[in-house]
Parts: sequence; structure tokens; C-alpha cells
Amino acid sequence: MAGEKWVLMATAQTPTNIAVIKYWGKRDEELILPVNDSISVTLDPSHLCTITTVAVSPAFEQDRMWLNRKEISLSGARYQNCLREIRSRANDVEDKEKGIKIAKKDWEKLHVYIDSYNNFPTAAGLASSAAGFACLVFALANLMNVKEDQSKLSAIARQGSGSACRSLYGGFVKWSMGKEKDGSDSLAIQLADEKHWDDLVIIIAVVSSRQKETSSTSGMRETVETSLLLQHRAKEVVPKRVLAMEEAIKNRDFVSFAQLTCSDSNQFHAVCLDTSPPIFYMNDTSHRIISLVEKWNRSEGVPQVAYTFDAGPNSVLIARNRKTAVSLLQRLLFYFPPNPETDLNSYVLGDKSILQDAGIKGVEDIESLLQPPEINSPFQKFQGDVSYFICTRPGKGPVVLPDSQALLDPKTGLPK
Ligand code: DP6
Repeated sequence: MAGEKWVLMATAQTPTNIAVIKYWGKRDEELILPVNDSISVTLDPSHLCTITTVAVSPAFEQDRMWLNRKEISLSGARYQNCLREIRSRANDVEDKEKGIKIAKKDWEKLHVYIDSYNNFPTAAGLASSAAGFACLVFALANLMNVKEDQSKLSAIARQGSGSACRSLYGGFVKWSMGKEKDGSDSLAIQLADEKHWDDLVIIIAVVSSRQKETSSTSGMRETVETSLLLQHRAKEVVPKRVLAMEEAIKNRDFVSFAQLTCSDSNQFHAVCLDTSPPIFYMNDTSHRIISLVEKWNRSEGVPQVAYTFDAGPNSVLIARNRKTAVSLLQRLLFYFPPNPETDLNSYVLGDKSILQDAGIKGVEDIESLLQPPEINSPFQKFQGDVSYFICTRPGKGPVVLPDSQALLDPKTGLPK
């Protein structure tokens, strides 16, 4: 093969996911094995996704990776574990059109180039590592003709980042913690696809934050070492909650879904507070959003919207249907209008048709929004406290994209 110059590529798109029953705490740091099951909703990849191209060529002298157009190191254990696990499952590959033949045994001698890109701002603190590792594993499995099913691939993605295993499926996904020491049964299972409950609308508030946040990895390590509440959560609370959440999803029971989602987010943040030293992920804006939703839900008698927060101040709001999502967006824009220099087009991203339904065509329409009826006390607006909103919905799992959408050049294998 030496001296040959061909490049063979595969490109994939993978969604992000938001946990409604949270993963927080590992029982094995190396293999990334959690202390409890978790459940997530996959977000529509047209609004939030990672695209990754992987390429192989006899001309490549080492493995290399670019993330959002910058070269990064692949030396970390998490990348190495994913690469090793996928390589060990590679099979014969033949591309008759290009006249390329790679035998199973050749894969360990060949190097790969990886180019990965998020279609959403990385600095926003949205779960980019979940989509990123899921996409890396899915694209490599495609290139190397790995025959494992999606669940087995999820157990490999898990070794890149725990939450990544849930991005191998669309819709509603459970990461089963497993019992085995080697982690072979700690993998994702699809509970229902994205069409099962397509009334749901998701609005993400990307909250402005000046604070440097504790990474999930170190945060959960400190929680495992110091929090007694985590032990109670993992042993007593989550097992029951996971069963109830599976039922709620199966029956499209929004009331239970919302109660469980909000309680679990709140308990996750309580566990962070129970850590020594305490970890604060939510800020005043996050708390204001919780209070807005709680007041509205209470005034309606039944929950209209569920909220959940990961390891940062951003709020993920799940509305029971489109009509509710329209009212939610009106409320959010009323309290959190954009800064004067921000235009509407860059303030509400994703599915902008919800804005039209809300009767908002320009920033001036935000100014004329009426105070929500459930608020009878003097109100305050918090201009600029939200950077922007993303309107989205539950979405599909990973897909393979044609070579025409590859991020790497088909001749050199370098970023385009
Ligand atoms: C709060 O998957 O980012 O988003 O496994 O160390 O890479 P590592 O952590 P990560 O943690 C995600 C934590 C969470 C909750 C969740 O997604 O379940």
C-alpha cells in the first residue's frame, strides 16, 4: 500500500441530547460507568448537531484531528479509547469505483484524519462533547465497516464522554448503567423514536455568563467524593424515577413528564450544592426562568412547560405543544428582551416559525408584548441577560452524509 495516494472518507451528522433524568457521578472513571441510569431527549439536528468527516489514506503519517477548524491533540485517553475500540472492530472495505481495497488487518497500520464541526456556537456551553464523540464513533464505524449495532457503538461513544452514548439514537433514549465490570452492558437503548411524541417543542435559553464553570468531569468526581445526597439519589431516587419517566414517555403523559424532569434537574443541582466545595451551575437568570415557569404552571393548574439545566446556566424548556411554546416564547421575550444592538434574527434561532405564530416580526413587537396575567406584582425586565434563544424539537439520530458534504478535501484529506 506504501506509495499509494488515495483517500477514502465517511461523513456523518449526529444530534445533541438533553437529559431529563440526569447522569451525574461515575463508578468507574476510566471506562466512564455511571452510578445511575439516565434518560434523554435527542434534539433536532437541523438546529443543533455535529458533522464529522473521517478519512484514511496510506499517505497519512499520523492520526490528526481538527475541531471547528482548529487542529487539536488526539493524545487524550478518551480519544485514544474510542479510536482503539473502533479499530479493533474494523472489517474488509472495498470501494470498486475508486479501486481501493483495505483488508481487515491493514486498519491498524493506517492513520486517520478527523474534521469535526458544530452547527451551534461552542462557547455557548451546550453539550458539544456528546454530539462530538457520538459523531466520531459513528463516522469511524462507517468508514471501517464496523458491523456492530447502534447500542454496541453507544458503549464505545460512552468511553469518549458519558452523555455521548445517548446521541446514537433519535427520540427518547435511556442509558442503562449496566452491572458488568468491563462496561459491556453500560449502553444506550431507544425508548421511542422522535415521531412518537412530536407535539413537544423545545426552547433553549442561552444565558449570558461571565463565570468559568466547573467541567462535568471534575464536578461529578468531586460530587462522588463528597456528597451523601448523591448516594441517596443514585440508590433510592433515580431507579424509581427512571421507571416513572419510561411510563410517562410511553403514554405521552406530559404532566408526569414535566414533574419528573423539573424535579430531577432540581435534584441534580441540589447534589452539586451538596458537593464540597459546592458547585453552582445555575445563576440568577436561570433561577428567574425557573420561577417564571413555576408561576405559570401553577396558574394553569397543570404543567405547560418543563425546565431542565445541565452543568451551566442555560435553560432547556420543553413545552407540551406548539400553542404553549408560542405563549412561552412571548413570556421569555417579555422578561428577557434583547440588547438594543441585537436584531431579532440573531436573537431567536432555530425554528423561527414559532416567532411568526407569536406575532413577532421585529424587535418593536417585543416592546408591545403584554405582561403575563399570572404576574400581579410589579415586574422587572432583564434586558440582555439571555444571549439568544434556540427553538427546536425532539429529533432523529445519526445519519451518514454524502461525500459532497465532507469537511475534508477528497484529494489531500486536509480540511477544505
Ligand atoms: C449534567 O457526559 O459531559 O449534562 O462523562 O465526564 O464526559 P463525562 O461527562 P458528561 O456529563 C454530562 C452531565 C450532564 C447530565 C447528562 O447529560 O445526563
